[in-house]
Amino acid sequence: MKAPIVLLTGAYRGIGFEAARQFVAHGARVIVTSRRRVRGEAAITQLGPRAVFLELDVTDGASIVAAAAAVGAQFGRLDVLVNNTAVLLDPEGTLLDLSGEVLRATLETNLIAPLRVTQAMVPLLQRSAAPRVINVASGAGQLSGVPGTWAPAYSISKTALNMLTRQLSAALPGIAVNSMCPGWCRTEMGGPDAPRSPEQGADTIRWLGLEAPQSTTGGFFRDRLPLEW
Ligand SMILES: NC(=O)c1ccc[n+]([C@@H]2O[C@H](COP(=O)([O-])OP(=O)(O)OC[C@H]3O[C@@H](n4cnc5c(N)ncnc54)[C@H](OP(=O)(O)O)[C@@H]3O)[C@@H](O)[C@H]2O)c1
Repeated sequence: MKAPIVLLTGAYRGIGFEAARQFVAHGARVIVTSRRRVRGEAAITQLGPRAVFLELDVTDGASIVAAAAAVGAQFGRLDVLVNNTAVLLDPEGTLLDLSGEVLRATLETNLIAPLRVTQAMVPLLQRSAAPRVINVASGAGQLSGVPGTWAPAYSISKTALNMLTRQLSAALPGIAVNSMCPGWCRTEMGGPDAPRSPEQGADTIRWLGLEAPQSTTGGFFRDRLPLEW
């Protein structure tokens, strides 16, 4: 069997890097992307020969087009796309003070970028025998449960990302498209006090990428279990 080819966005650190490490450990070939070449190249040195680096700024259309062309030229197909990149610009923010600028910048990275990256990669995914897209969302975007006030721009972007997952899953019947939440993890975004390790957070990404049934699509998961929207 051919080794699955997995591309992860924003993966030189944090949950993305840990997911890349787990994909490599399970026999995949990974394309670690980042807008920071030096950090990205350092990351693939740590991951070994099954990893390559590709420069990709997910908010830059030309960078997305160039990355898709480079994957096509080097691999000819893509099996798994992990839209991992996100920004958290308003951790202390309140909705009543939220500026249009912060909301727009958040949506640009957390919602529009996963759409554009997926659109660019679809032709390569369609050359895979078992294509999958994983959108790294967050419990912060859940509509169920008690309403909260934390990080409104980030939370709104993750709710919208979940609808992107639903829409993509319907628009791409041959591709398994799912959202997942890593839980609160110790990364630059999560901070040192988070209760979970990046290893725990990344496990469901790797599971959705390599092990979940191909028929699993349009879902939202944490710890390999369905999560309420
Ligand atoms: N950590 C948590 O507790 C937690 C909880 C729920 C969900 N999540 C989600 O898990 C995912 C990973 O989070 P994390 O904790 O690993 O965060 P992180 O350490 O802050 O990593 C985010 C990554 O995104 C990259 N990035 C941001 N903007 C980019 C752009 N325009 N182009 C390319 N890369 C860009 C960052 O690189 P730069 O240095 O270039 O900015 C970094 O590599 C995110 O989707 C996050 O929302 C995390």
